[in-house]
Amino acid sequence: MSVHRGREHWRSRFGFLMAAIGSAVGLGNMWRFSYLTAEHGGAAFVLLYVLMLFFIAVPILLAEMVIGRGAARGPVQALGFFGGRAWKSLGAVFVAAGFVIASYYSVIAGWTLRYTLEAIFIGFADDPVGHFTRISSGGEALAWHLIFMAGSLWIVANGVTGGIERTAVIVMPLLFLVVCGLAVYAATLPGAGPGYAYYLNAEDYFAIFSPAVLADAAGQAFFSLSLGMGAMLTYASYLERTTNLPLQSGMIAVADFAIAFIAGLVVFPLLFALGLAQDVSESTLGALFITLPKAFLELGLVGRAIGALFFAALVVGALTSLISLLEVVVASTIDIVDWDRRRATIVTGIAAAALGVPAAIHLPVLDAMDQVATHILLIGGGLALAVFTGWRMEDPESEVALGAGHYFWLPLWRRILRYAVPVVLGLLMLQSVPRTIANVIALFD
Ligand code: PHE
Repeated sequence: MSVHRGREHWRSRFGFLMAAIGSAVGLGNMWRFSYLTAEHGGAAFVLLYVLMLFFIAVPILLAEMVIGRGAARGPVQALGFFGGRAWKSLGAVFVAAGFVIASYYSVIAGWTLRYTLEAIFIGFADDPVGHFTRISSGGEALAWHLIFMAGSLWIVANGVTGGIERTAVIVMPLLFLVVCGLAVYAATLPGAGPGYAYYLNAEDYFAIFSPAVLADAAGQAFFSLSLGMGAMLTYASYLERTTNLPLQSGMIAVADFAIAFIAGLVVFPLLFALGLAQDVSESTLGALFITLPKAFLELGLVGRAIGALFFAALVVGALTSLISLLEVVVASTIDIVDWDRRRATIVTGIAAAALGVPAAIHLPVLDAMDQVATHILLIGGGLALAVFTGWRMEDPESEVALGAGHYFWLPLWRRILRYAVPVVLGLLMLQSVPRTIANVIALFD
């Protein structure tokens, strides 16, 4: 087949795996997963999340990889390649989602970079609430957003193997070691027992049957695996056709879940050791940048070191996620207008940085972008992708079989995409879209 058109390929399978896990592991794992778990019934939520992850999200991850590798193009051209003209517009929605998420994600990433450097050079601020209020929006937030964006763009401009892969193979193993090390440290704290109990309490099994909790679990699974906007599709477009796609998607999902779960084992003992647990449920982002720094501050010099490592892990997670978001936009631009990578990166990067300006200046804008992206764009994108692969594509099973052989469950995979995913995600959207719109309106009241 001539579809590969001499496209760049990952240097190694390990390189691809680290880049894909790098995309998946990010701000979603290091904080949002534990937060949602503690909010929604502990162990019961973990169970629900795992079910969502493996029965709904992983089939879509596999679908993205099949489309990307099969077409060897970015999302717009790949969907056009398999589905004809009309489906290109879904690819365009993916690129738009990439733009939106990249722009506000970079603002938050900028805060993490600032916290890391502050922890190293001056220590955590005495007044965490005031500090966060000062740095989270306005001119300084804007400056850190631009710094983080520039660094990420530089990596993307250096190419898939020379930039993205080279970064991921170094930083991802380090991130894993740091997170595991932090969990071991946290286990020695006096708050470890009650912290674990709060994180994984199983008191409220029925809480998981509420539609809002189901929607949160699905939204988190999609966000965490970077699904529904073509990131995994784009990364898979640089794979050789000898790769075992089901195996890769399974490994990505397991690693992503493991890091999220272990991050919870770090966060909760810390909060309980210092009696800060009641602060957790106050706000999602604020807690990460206010409550945890409070804990690090109280733990003195050790806390400062631990805090620096924690925020450095967040920087790494955010960086490798942001470059995958930018790569969606850049790869599509290269496909469509035939620019060279450097030019495509600079032009689209400036646009993404500019789109982040309102989010950097006014926190409710950031919140609104996040809500719309996670609850509407990603879930809607995943739904459309399942319909595409389930109903429109001819014989996606044989693309899976290339490099993997004929798994007995392949027909089942197709049926999940045809029926189960559209039904589950469709129902979730029916209830989460109005709620999201109401939330967004409330933010600006
Ligand atoms: N998966 C990333 C996280 O957990 C976020 C992300 C979403 C990255 C979509 C790329 C695409 O933080």
